Amino acid sequence: MKATAEAFANIALAKYWGKSDVALNLPAVPSLSLTLDPLRTQTRVEFDASLTHDELLLNDTRGAGRTLARVVHLLENVRKEAGFGTFARVESHNHFPTASGLASSASGFAALAIAARAAASLPFDRNKASALARQASASAARSVFGGFVVLAAGQHDEATLCAQPIFERTHWDLRVVVAVTTEGEKETGSTLGMEHSRTTSPYYEAWVANAPLYFERVLEGVRTRDLELAGEAMEESTFAMHACALAASPGILYFTPSTLAAYETVKSLRKNGVCAYATMDAGPHVKVFCDANDVDRVNHALLQTSGVLRTITASPGRGAELIQP
Ligand code: PMV
Repeated sequence: MKATAEAFANIALAKYWGKSDVALNLPAVPSLSLTLDPLRTQTRVEFDASLTHDELLLNDTRGAGRTLARVVHLLENVRKEAGFGTFARVESHNHFPTASGLASSASGFAALAIAARAAASLPFDRNKASALARQASASAARSVFGGFVVLAAGQHDEATLCAQPIFERTHWDLRVVVAVTTEGEKETGSTLGMEHSRTTSPYYEAWVANAPLYFERVLEGVRTRDLELAGEAMEESTFAMHACALAASPGILYFTPSTLAAYETVKSLRKNGVCAYATMDAGPHVKVFCDANDVDRVNHALLQTSGVLRTITASPGRGAELIQP
C-alpha cells in the first residue's frame, strides 16, 4: 500500500488563467507547456490502517489548510475508485522554491496522482492520473506527461479531462533559463488570482477570447521549431494574462522590480542577436526560452541583472514516473 513517484514542473508557453467550471476545476482556455528537467518533486504515499486522518509532510513541514485540503480531496477520489477507506501519509519534497510561481503545485500534484494510484493498486494510466491531478491543479495535469503538452479548454467531455502530450521532449532541444528572483512564497496563489480575475477584471472576457489565438501561434511555433514565432506568441500570452490580473479589483501584481529588470535583460539580449523570449507565471521569476547554444550568454546576462539571485537551466523533461523509494 505504498508507492513513490517523481514528476517535473512545467512552464506554459500559452497560459492557462481562469476556470470554465470551478467545481470541476476545468480551464477556460487551452494551454501548452514544456515539462522541465530538473525542476523535480518526489512524493511518497502510504495508505496505513493505523491512521485516523490523512497526513501531509511537505518539505519536512506539516501541511495544513488549503494545501492539505487539496491533497485530501485527491486521496478521496483515489479511495473511491479503489473501493477502500484507509487514510494515507504523504511525504513530498520539491527540489526548487515552493509556491513562488515555479509551478511546484504542477509537479507536486502530478507526482501525488501517480503515487497515490499506485499505492492503491490502481493500474498505471497516465490519462486517469492526469485527470485526477487536474482536479487539484490544472497545470498538474500537464506534468504527468513529458515534453510538450496541451491541456484543452474544459468541455465536460472525456477528452478534455486530461492533458495530452503533443511532441516528445526530443522534438526540440530548447533550454529554459529560470531567473530566480525570490526564495519566498508568493502572496496570491494562482487559484485565488485567476478566480479574482474572472470575477472582477473587466479584461477577463477579452483574455478568454484571445487566449486560443496565442495558443494556436505557440502550437505552430513549437510544431515548426520556430523560436521567434513561439516566443513572440508566448510573450503576448504572458502579458495578456498579467494584464487581466492587473485590471482586477483590487489589482494583482506578480511582477517585482527584479522581474522587470530580468525582462529588460531579455530584450537587450534580443537586440544583440540572441534569440531569447521570456515568460512569467503567478510569481516574480522570469523563465527565458532559448537555443541550447545560447545558454551561456543568457545565463551570464541574467546573473548580472539586479535582483536575480540565481539561475536554473532546464531542458525538456520526461513525464511523471514511479520510482524506488
Ligand atoms: O493550475 P494552477 O493553479 O497551478 O495554475 C497555473 C497558472 C499559470 O501557471 C499562471 C499558467 C499555466 O498555464 O501554468
